Amino acid sequence: MPDPISDHANLAAALDLAASEAKAYLAGIDDALVRPRTSNATPDVDLPDEGIGSLAALAELIESADEGSTRSAGPRFFHFVMGGGTPAALGADWLASTLDQNAYNWISSPFASRVEQVTVAWLQDLFGLPGDWGGVITTGATMANFAGLAAARRWWGLQQGVDVEAEGLSGLPPMTIVSGGYIHVSALKAIAMLGLGRDRVKRLSRDGAGRIDLDALASVLQERNQEPVVIIANAGDVNTGDFDPLADILAIGRKHRAWVHVDGAFGLFAAVSPITRHLVEGLEHADSVAVDGHKWLNVPYDSGYAFVRDAAYLAGAFGASASYLGKDAAARPAFGNLGPEMSRRARSLAVWATLRAYGRSGIRTMVERHLRLAQRVAAQVDAAPDLERLAEVPLNVVCFRFHPPGFPEDRLDDLNRRLGEMVLDDGRVYFGTTVYDGKVAVRPAIVNWRTREEDVDLIVTVVRELGARAIVQAAPGWSQAKPAQGAAEEPAAPGEVVKPQR
Ligand SMILES: Cc1ncc(COP(=O)(O)O)c(C=O)c1O
Repeated sequence: MPDPISDHANLAAALDLAASEAKAYLAGIDDALVRPRTSNATPDVDLPDEGIGSLAALAELIESADEGSTRSAGPRFFHFVMGGGTPAALGADWLASTLDQNAYNWISSPFASRVEQVTVAWLQDLFGLPGDWGGVITTGATMANFAGLAAARRWWGLQQGVDVEAEGLSGLPPMTIVSGGYIHVSALKAIAMLGLGRDRVKRLSRDGAGRIDLDALASVLQERNQEPVVIIANAGDVNTGDFDPLADILAIGRKHRAWVHVDGAFGLFAAVSPITRHLVEGLEHADSVAVDGHKWLNVPYDSGYAFVRDAAYLAGAFGASASYLGKDAAARPAFGNLGPEMSRRARSLAVWATLRAYGRSGIRTMVERHLRLAQRVAAQVDAAPDLERLAEVPLNVVCFRFHPPGFPEDRLDDLNRRLGEMVLDDGRVYFGTTVYDGKVAVRPAIVNWRTREEDVDLIVTVVRELGARAIVQAAPGWSQAKPAQGAAEEPAAPGEVVKPQR
């Protein structure tokens, strides 16, 4: 296959092949093991001098994807916090590739610019943010944190008479940045990328973990009386789904020269349901907010959103111009000048389509289903004599560990670490371990639009079954212990798939 132009005639066949394989893949995803037990067959070959042609290349890729892909778009992937793609979002995402718009500015694509403008306004409405805020679509919450904190850095420089983007940071004192124990590593990464020093973030929570301590916050702000301070609060801790006391933090912040950034990567979806809305009360008083789309909104990777009370700070942080790029104007937005990337994929299409397809109430119904499912898992954990729940379940994450009665406390971490590896290898459900409150634990997070009761019911079943086996491996000296009451007496053979009952 010498030159792509000679492949013109294969375009329709290539798209048909991708579509038919995609349909087959997704048709099996509800019941498939999350991580297939086959080896990854991606061919390890040198860059070919002579290509094999589009259809053969696609067929090769499809074969290795089938063997190697984690079924993370399916209903039993509970690791990290990862959603799938709704039908509307996935279809629109395909269109984004087909149309191949550069969502830089109005000249590169009026269509993508306008769809992003509408989408950002819809998202603000969905999350209860004021309509006069600015926003931009990013690749995810890491870059949304980066954008929000870049806006904060600009504000902080201007408070001291310095245009940081033009003049740099030298000559300015170090920034005072405070947070709690829930700060996500991506916010620290953003702080590092912004040259502010991630080790400078002060964690104002008791023992460096958990919620921001309001008394400690008030006293830091009082000490730094005349100094501008940046506060990073969390709506949704990744281990437990817990929230910093946002309303109080925002009230304290308003009395001082403080910029409050809220990382709500998944927790911001608390705003869409009256059951959980109180957790984000006062959000409209924040200065910047980060949220993800590829988590609870269920649009395909990658998709995140940064919202800033005063869009001028975003424009100041990210504005760039050159004579050939044209001029920005309010009616002709240039989102490439409000975020870190200039040339950008039209990520708005998938978001627009899912919001248009399911509306506010569809998103609320999905979120509330996940809230109920998390409570269901928590109740099952509480009812099992060999499981110990480690945290409240305010949202969609259930943090617990395997804790057979009488098992030596000092070996529980090893036992749970081994169990976490076994869960990942097993593949019926999928989540690894974390460390919470000094204990190795699991923390399944429920966000996928496909997930049903029968999927989450496998969480406790699999943990107890594999836990009984992990005891034998992690603590052979304890192997004479009787299986805890109700634990699987005859564990399924490795590889045996317990299909969710549909
Ligand atoms: C609270 C929080 N913030 C930020 C992120 C980073 O998001 P992303 O990986 O989409 O960049 C995550 C991811 O899990 C998160 O849970």
